[in-house]
Amino acid sequence: MTEPAGALHARNFEATHERLDLPEYERPQGLHPPMNSPGYKSTALRSPARPLVLLPQRLTEVTGPLFGSERVTESEADLTRAGPGAEEAIGQRIIVHGRVLDSDGRPIPDTLVEVWQANAAGRYRHKVDTWPGPLDPNFTGGGRVVTDEQGWYRFTSIKPGAYPWGNHYNAWRPAHIHFSLLGRAFTQRLVTQMYFPDDPLFEYDPIYNSIPDPKVRQRLVSRFDMEHTRPDWALAFRWDIVLRGTGRTPMEEPHED
Ligand SMILES: [Fe+2]
Repeated sequence: MTEPAGALHARNFEATHERLDLPEYERPQGLHPPMNSPGYKSTALRSPARPLVLLPQRLTEVTGPLFGSERVTESEADLTRAGPGAEEAIGQRIIVHGRVLDSDGRPIPDTLVEVWQANAAGRYRHKVDTWPGPLDPNFTGGGRVVTDEQGWYRFTSIKPGAYPWGNHYNAWRPAHIHFSLLGRAFTQRLVTQMYFPDDPLFEYDPIYNSIPDPKVRQRLVSRFDMEHTRPDWALAFRWDIVLRGTGRTPMEEPHED
């Protein structure tokens, strides 16, 4: 059988450069939420009906252009000051921070971390979010930051409110922040959600509970971080994201609610 051109390029690349670690994207069973989760109704329509085909990751995928940190400004990590209005967003100020780590606890620098969230009333600035919670003219709900050499990211925001959704009668999402991580290429994107500790809505939420193992669900829950609160100004929450290994953070398909 003829060797694929990509594999040949990879071998030639390795011959003249340091060894090239081509990533693998096998989705482990039993850790991440199933793509079709019966309690989370819309997954029945959008989940693939056939087994996934793993696309090979070759030089094109792993050495393509990166979204460089030079394009990300410091102010994009502050969601309280990012709205179209001139004032600060309304809500309980919070600092959300943590590290992006691999399976050996090594930091992963230069990872673009993007977040989006509802405002303090639980309303998204989005045309299909029409529930009667008030919009905040000073809050868009989006932000981004690039991890530093030690894998740290840090946002300033306001605590999002819970919101109703149409999954079933009287369905409410626990307060959460959506996270997207981009690695060394645009083919390396992971999406998940971060929750806040002790939310009474956890037990009723089909998305949170779509993660099969209750202990693994806890990996999506941030912890209150008294040490990094700012007196008279903001609360703080710590949430680390582990990309591989037995302690990895559960990830979902993109475009979740
Ligand atoms: Fe959401």
